[in-house]
Amino acid sequence: SVEQSIRPLSLLDYIGQEDVKKNLEVFIEAAKMREESLDHVLLYGPPGLGKTTLSAIIANEMNVQMRTTSGPAIERPGDLAAILTALEPGDVLFIDEIHRLNRMVEEVLYPAMEDFCLDIVIGKGPTARSVRLDLPPFTLVGATTRAGMLSAPLRDRFGVMARLEYYNIDELALIVKRTAQVFQIELEHEAALEIASRSRGTPRIANRLLRRVRDFAQVKGDGSVTYDMAVHALEKLQVDQLGLDHIDHKLLFGMIEKFKGGPVGLETIASTIGEEAETIEDVYEPYLLQIGFIQRTPRGRVVTPMCYQHFQLEGPKK
Ligand code: ADE
Repeated sequence: SVEQSIRPLSLLDYIGQEDVKKNLEVFIEAAKMREESLDHVLLYGPPGLGKTTLSAIIANEMNVQMRTTSGPAIERPGDLAAILTALEPGDVLFIDEIHRLNRMVEEVLYPAMEDFCLDIVIGKGPTARSVRLDLPPFTLVGATTRAGMLSAPLRDRFGVMARLEYYNIDELALIVKRTAQVFQIELEHEAALEIASRSRGTPRIANRLLRRVRDFAQVKGDGSVTYDMAVHALEKLQVDQLGLDHIDHKLLFGMIEKFKGGPVGLETIASTIGEEAETIEDVYEPYLLQIGFIQRTPRGRVVTPMCYQHFQLEGPKK
């Protein structure tokens, strides 16, 4: 329908992540049968795989509202208290980048998650006293790129942990076909596959490439996305066969040209190519590791023979 949004609203419409979906279906149904709030959920995995979408689906399936915030946005305990006291019973509180919560805020979150209560200190010094406030039951959905970056006590308070994986090409092709329907544009099967295969396993990238390809189809063609139009547009966008972009190339060629393919430390690579180490680690490296173009060793990152082959380069002399 025209009402359809780019983001699916139900688990049935959510493509891929089959294991995660099957388990969530059970947990959601069970919580609804018991008329309880769903246990807290931690979603982790590389950016763009649908953590926010999944959280919105959880809220929708539980028939509750979702409130959205992020780790860096909650600066003081009072900020968190304001959010928590405004929740309605059963609501989903989505905290993106939850690994970036500060210590003081985290401490307020523990009793909130465990006992649905808030310990507030009123006043200062010898007259300070602590008041305990009851909160409505709620479901915290936390999202992070790496579960390992959460403190152990926070991690332990999630009853459900789900790791999102990169999508395969068929799943991504289905996702862009679904988006094309929402946009009401024609998309050839082969064009969908071409966009999918250059999307680094990531729906957010697939949908972004579809938007740009649609631009080319509109201006340079009759609006329908044919295979030839997709290939032409993707070339103009400088997205290669594997979906590697300008920054991936800078990263790999930086390692090859300046460090003979490594081993080289993350910080060193980062400063040579002028990108943040954290961005490289969270956004670029996971996919390059996944396709086997780089490896992590105790002495740093190395470029693999497969990567040299892809770019038709000779490897370093032994
Ligand atoms: N859009 C983004 N991620 C999606 C998914 N997993 N399924 C369907 N549509 C999506």
